[in-house]
Amino acid sequence: MTNSISKCLAIHKRADLIQIPAIIHHLPRLSLRFKHEFYALRDDLTGFGLGGNKTRKVDFLLGDALAHKATTLVTIKATSFSRNAAAGAAACGLKLHVILPGTESDQNPLSQFVFAKWGAKLHYEIGGTAALENRQESLVASLRAQGENVYVLHPGGSDTIGALSYVSAFNEIQEFSERTSVHFSHIVHSTSSAGTQAGLLVGQCIANYETQVIGISASRTTHEQFKIVNELAQSTAQLLGKQMDPSKIIVDDGFVGPGYAKASKEGEIASQIFAELEGILFDPAYTGKAAAAILDYAENERFGGDPALFIHTGGNAGLYY
Ligand SMILES: Cc1ncc(COP(=O)(O)O)c(C=O)c1O
Repeated sequence: MTNSISKCLAIHKRADLIQIPAIIHHLPRLSLRFKHEFYALRDDLTGFGLGGNKTRKVDFLLGDALAHKATTLVTIKATSFSRNAAAGAAACGLKLHVILPGTESDQNPLSQFVFAKWGAKLHYEIGGTAALENRQESLVASLRAQGENVYVLHPGGSDTIGALSYVSAFNEIQEFSERTSVHFSHIVHSTSSAGTQAGLLVGQCIANYETQVIGISASRTTHEQFKIVNELAQSTAQLLGKQMDPSKIIVDDGFVGPGYAKASKEGEIASQIFAELEGILFDPAYTGKAAAAILDYAENERFGGDPALFIHTGGNAGLYY
């Protein structure tokens, strides 16, 4: 590793669960149809757990947990992240406790099946966020009293350590551009708990790579999403001894559709187009909304002459359950 991103990340150990650099490839039929050059970064194919952006975060978070000699991990609510954390915990020989909202019968049986395969211990809490947090606090206290070294995972993995995984992803983008002379003027992806966008922005800033990183909001307004992306980007930059310029943050809430974790009509159409033209599958609630945006931008000639990079952040499990 040659560049300054690698140097900044050197002290933050990964658990080495995923295969990186991730594949970046041209999308020839989509490019022809939409008269703009598109590439995809395939975080759905990094070879661990259920794939997607959560496995990148899990790789850094579990690396940090192992560096702290953790024996047990605890997290709350976000099932897609927690399922991938369960795979990571199994592969690292750690125990994982997940506190889920609702009762056992509210849960998706296929999701429960996956949790059981990876040996996660599930707890249920019927109250809201405050009740989940209180339950987590008492669970952590009781595990510590039993002698466990507990590492608490942020729900969704979007804390500064989780965001480092997307600083690292930006390194892969930069190295791809150096190797192939393909420069991306726009990088488009889904944004929700903000770890993906915050990490990419900090990576862009360290690499000094001229591009627009555009987060397509899965549910929040641009104003609300900007705030959480900015907070996390600032704290991630600070962790690396860097500064992050907030004017680089671009969030688009024009593709939210019916809202959080719900498919949008445009996302369904975009996922059909990617499937038909490129054989690529993704869910319509997160990745699909970003795909809808990238196609819309191309149709409305909002990209310049350079290629655009679409980040496939995964979520394919949502297609099956
Ligand atoms: C498939 C998928 N893509 C993108 C995102 C958004 O990433 P982040 O939470 O890092 O903003 C999520 C979040 O749940 C997701 O599940």
